Amino acid sequence: MADTERAASTTSEQITAEVLAAVGNTGDERARVVLTALIRHAHDFAREVRLQPDELLAAADFLRRCGDISDEARHEFILLSDVLGITMVVDTLAADVPDGALETSVLGPFYRAGSPLEPHGANISRGGSVDGEPARIHGRVLDLHGEPIAGAELDVWGTNANGLYENVDPLQPDYNLRGRFRTDESGAYDLWTVKPVSYPIPDDGPVGELLRVTNRHNMRPAHFHVIASAENHRTIVTELYSDDDEYLWSDAVFGVKSSLVVHYERIEDPRRLAEVGSAEPYWELRHDFVLTPGERAGVSFTTGRESAGR
Ligand SMILES: [Fe+2]
Repeated sequence: MADTERAASTTSEQITAEVLAAVGNTGDERARVVLTALIRHAHDFAREVRLQPDELLAAADFLRRCGDISDEARHEFILLSDVLGITMVVDTLAADVPDGALETSVLGPFYRAGSPLEPHGANISRGGSVDGEPARIHGRVLDLHGEPIAGAELDVWGTNANGLYENVDPLQPDYNLRGRFRTDESGAYDLWTVKPVSYPIPDDGPVGELLRVTNRHNMRPAHFHVIASAENHRTIVTELYSDDDEYLWSDAVFGVKSSLVVHYERIEDPRRLAEVGSAEPYWELRHDFVLTPGERAGVSFTTGRESAGR
């Protein structure tokens, strides 16, 4: 060997090849596909931005702090996925619904399973007038041909006027503004709640830092959460967005789709009020949900409720 010849340096691409080979024997096919693509993209990403060692450490610290701030009622990693739009990309791809059918939106970190099954026309505002302005939401659940679906379930939840879900607000009654409703033989559902308000997503953790760095606000436009499900139809996790909200088109988590924007009508006419036995003006939303044929599925996530006094 001549004095001038030296061993070639190892390139980053060689390291990538080595890592890909190392996971090549992953037994589970899906895990192998996901891990392989994750490594490939992550290594290419590091090359593209020439990620610096201190930046990698900062990222690791960011994720550690996401874990530190998470608990039974706070899921910073879901929030992180939401504000980066990853949640909406994944949900939209998974749903793949035809035009005209109910589209998906983010589940969010505040879904709490097991809310009470309520009768037709029930009011899930269990906290009295402090909950907000009364709203009636009613309509039908239909299939793609416009035929009613009897026995479909709507699992709904929302915040009170303070923009807080009951699970993070010990002042609210258990399961306040949450409930499950089933459609009758004509596919109809009918419920009373409060008109949604816009609210901030938590910005006192790592996700808040990210929003500030990117000069973004942390507001979500007013919305009403729904999980719509029925036998032989795809379960759709979604939200309905009020058309009068100032944050409608700058949602911090990118959840808004045109078909999910709805209009609440203010009802003040005494005759209309008398029809529903209400002495006070209220908001009315008529909305039909159109479900796509497929398999009914459960939702594998649920939050807990913060204990009082926290
Ligand atoms: Fe929400």
